[in-house]
Amino acid sequence: MDIARGFSKLSRIEKIKYIQDNFPIVADVAKVTNHYRHETEQSVFDDFSENTLSNFYLPYGVAPNFLIDGKMYVLPMVIEESSVVAAASRAASFWAKHGGFKTTIHDSLKIGHIWFQWDGEENILHKHISTLQTYLKESVKEITQRMEQRGGGIIDINFIQQPQLSNVWQMKVSFKTADSMGANFINTCLEAMKEPLVSYFESQNLPSIEIVMAILSNYTPECLVTCEASCKIEQLAPFASELSPSVFAQRFKLAMDIAYHNIDRAVTHNKGIYNGVDAVVLATGNDFRAVEAAGHSYASHDGQYRSLSKCEITNEGDFKISLTLPLALGTVGGLTRLHPLAALSMDILQNPSSEELMSIAASAGLANNFAAVASLVTTGIQKGHMKLHLSNILTSFDATPEEREKTEAYFSDKTVSLQKVREFLKR
Ligand code: MEV
Repeated sequence: MDIARGFSKLSRIEKIKYIQDNFPIVADVAKVTNHYRHETEQSVFDDFSENTLSNFYLPYGVAPNFLIDGKMYVLPMVIEESSVVAAASRAASFWAKHGGFKTTIHDSLKIGHIWFQWDGEENILHKHISTLQTYLKESVKEITQRMEQRGGGIIDINFIQQPQLSNVWQMKVSFKTADSMGANFINTCLEAMKEPLVSYFESQNLPSIEIVMAILSNYTPECLVTCEASCKIEQLAPFASELSPSVFAQRFKLAMDIAYHNIDRAVTHNKGIYNGVDAVVLATGNDFRAVEAAGHSYASHDGQYRSLSKCEITNEGDFKISLTLPLALGTVGGLTRLHPLAALSMDILQNPSSEELMSIAASAGLANNFAAVASLVTTGIQKGHMKLHLSNILTSFDATPEEREKTEAYFSDKTVSLQKVREFLKR
């Protein structure tokens, strides 16, 4: 088959025709993609990306009863996995009765680099650093002015040699980006500083530099939030199932400790945290790939990949859980207001600042983590999953309310599978 040349310039109909004609596709591509297009506002979605044929639907749900730093929220969550919203809601209601989630924003610094090659000595840079800082900040004043009015801007500029690569240096720039995630702002500033950086070295008769690239870093360990919740051990009874609250608490802590020490478990444990975090990040039109990349790299900041959350049991009988993770989020800019449902999420969340949104997303992460580990050390997760799985199967079979009731009763103590449900319904 020939390469599809100029594909992006084809009309949507032509693109669909190309796909339908050139691949052995059973479905009617035009029919399916048309079906999921928006009747009146498709152009909004078309503009988000390229070669858009249709929209990919995911459930937009809400988890109520999140008490975060003394304020009550309903959390919008976009997620395709069953049980996550239910688990978040259940955990949130429980913790709301025990003071809710308390959060601390450690900082909200973001960084970016200009990478360059240079055959110079470090002490030259030391001599020029303060002039360079002023000169480079001045060179992008037009870009940073408005951000400065909003409380952000360039915070610091430094030069660091990359030890493993001879002659390779980074100009590390720290930014505050107010309520925006800041990716565009950071990249625009960095790219605009490339030329002034080169010409400064030339004008000072220093060994010349060769720029490699300029880009923000998604590693944001200084854009960090901690979320905590605590209660008395006896109060854990609703999650302890058949265990006593104190045995439950001990087993829960052990499960958390296993995830701290063991990478196989840590990755799954953290995935459970990101079930909640990503759902809020997606619902608010933020970049979940950036958030995941930052979180998983932060999970290995001491050299070993570890769980992001912890549990502590005190001699006074307190049970405490906490989660610390980097979250570079925005509540203005990007898709946060352009996507109609992201805009709705911001409204539902009472138009939070970016720091408030960090607290909200971290609380969703801790709620889901608590619910998941509580299930794992008691009943296991499959029981709840299977109930929802059965409901999905019944929906796919267009089951009547009566069929639903009978099937749910029949499978209440049996393993669910598509085949078994089909057979039961036939009978
Ligand atoms: C499933 O999406 C998430 C869990 O695997 C998380 C965990 O194991 O902690 C249940």
